[in-house]
Amino acid sequence: MTKTKVNPYEVQGEINYDRLIKEFGIKKIDKELLTRIKKITGEIHPYLRREIFFAHRDLEKLLDAYESGQKFFLYTGCGPSGPIHLGHYSVWSFVKWLQDKFDVELWFQFTDDEKFLYLKNKTYEEIQDWTKQNMLDVAALGFNPEKTHFLIDTKHADIMYPEAIRVAKKITFSTIKASFGFTDSNNIGSIFYTAMQTVPIFLPNVLNKKSEYCLIPLAIDQDPHFRISRDVVQKLGHKKPTILHAKFMSPLTGATGKSSSSNSSKTILMTDSPSTIKTKINKYAFSGGQETTEEHRKKGGNTETDVACQWLKYFEWDDEKLEKIYKEYSSGKLLSGEVKAILIEKINGILSEHQERRKDAENQLDKFIFKS
Ligand code: TRP
Repeated sequence: MTKTKVNPYEVQGEINYDRLIKEFGIKKIDKELLTRIKKITGEIHPYLRREIFFAHRDLEKLLDAYESGQKFFLYTGCGPSGPIHLGHYSVWSFVKWLQDKFDVELWFQFTDDEKFLYLKNKTYEEIQDWTKQNMLDVAALGFNPEKTHFLIDTKHADIMYPEAIRVAKKITFSTIKASFGFTDSNNIGSIFYTAMQTVPIFLPNVLNKKSEYCLIPLAIDQDPHFRISRDVVQKLGHKKPTILHAKFMSPLTGATGKSSSSNSSKTILMTDSPSTIKTKINKYAFSGGQETTEEHRKKGGNTETDVACQWLKYFEWDDEKLEKIYKEYSSGKLLSGEVKAILIEKINGILSEHQERRKDAENQLDKFIFKS
């Protein structure tokens, strides 16, 4: 069996999220916290109900502050090295919900430096191209342009670099080695990079001469960066950020690892056409059904291993409808192909709207890119 690894540069093996909570020293989002969130937002997002966003660091502190009238800002990011897929989309659609419900600013970092430094086969120009393409998708998610600021590491170096060196001075090479499994042969840019990902935790406060809390929603593989950041920013006189951790959306082909843009048959891209979506799901989505229809009717399917069932947790937000699908699939009334058809229709709806908005996004980018 392959050893489980979860860090920004490697996700490998069967992931046990309860074990990760212990290993990472994070906390599960419990009922009490959900109740507190609901008091503010009026509803519990399905991703919270369904434990897709399942863990946190210091969420209590952030809610205490918010309840006592203090604002916070959101910070998340994108490593622009390929097309945006539904795994990214689901995390960011939750970020949008947070922005709308809490009515807060969002700082969105595009780490073109990171992707250039880490990926052997990509040129600087290719990464710039992906940065542009990815910004269009993020803009198309419908964030409030008045309250959303894109930071592009190489383009905003004038405001970011002075802060990054303050951070870098407090991180040793041995910490980076231990956190990411680096050796002496990693390039020196990649060793520095965590400093850049740390900066947006406090940059808005430096720019606006404020001291607001920062909330970072992320997929759990990004946590190791911020474990380092949390120590360092405090030493620099800033507040430790609050973090919300999401599980990975499983690849179409089965339960381990995470969706990735580097293998486009394993996931659905935001730019896929209805016929591509249909083909990919019918051809690649791992089925939890039985070999033959007859057997399936008798024994029923497995909703836990069936990728279409699992993906519906992300896209069918009506609990009753989802439960009905699960029940009928487990009992054998619904066939794999029928669940896939439900998923295809859901995704088609989401993507056709996204693709419309993406066409307009070009005119919006200028509003989103931060001007200092
Ligand atoms: N490193 C992330 C990636 O490769 C991008 C990123 C930058 C990020 N800042 C972030 C992700 C903050 C989550 C939260 O995708």
